[in-house]
Amino acid sequence: MSWIRVASVDELTDDVPLAVDVPVDGDELPLAIVRHQGALYAIWNECSHGNVELSEGDVADGAIECYLHGSRFSLATGEPLTMPATQPVRVFPARIDGDDVLVDVANPTEDF
Ligand code: FES
Repeated sequence: MSWIRVASVDELTDDVPLAVDVPVDGDELPLAIVRHQGALYAIWNECSHGNVELSEGDVADGAIECYLHGSRFSLATGEPLTMPATQPVRVFPARIDGDDVLVDVANPTEDF
């Protein structure tokens, strides 16, 4: 477990992705943080089909949509639900602790 504070709860709006760059080991992980239907998600902020930020897309029905070609990715698993994307994106455990939004960057939910 390696929980890192990535944002304040005040920065979250339901169904509006928040783009954050999380410093890890001298690198930066681009993540989109999403609070949706009472749950919190952290998903890789780049579409697996192209160099596009998923945080620019819409959130609905447990998924985030890439604005460029419309692939929808499950917020829970990162799996693509619609074409043209065929590869998943990484997702990470996320939780709220007081005023802090925390992400476990050591344990992606999907290991690939
Ligand atoms: S770049 Fe995201 S679906 Fe094509």
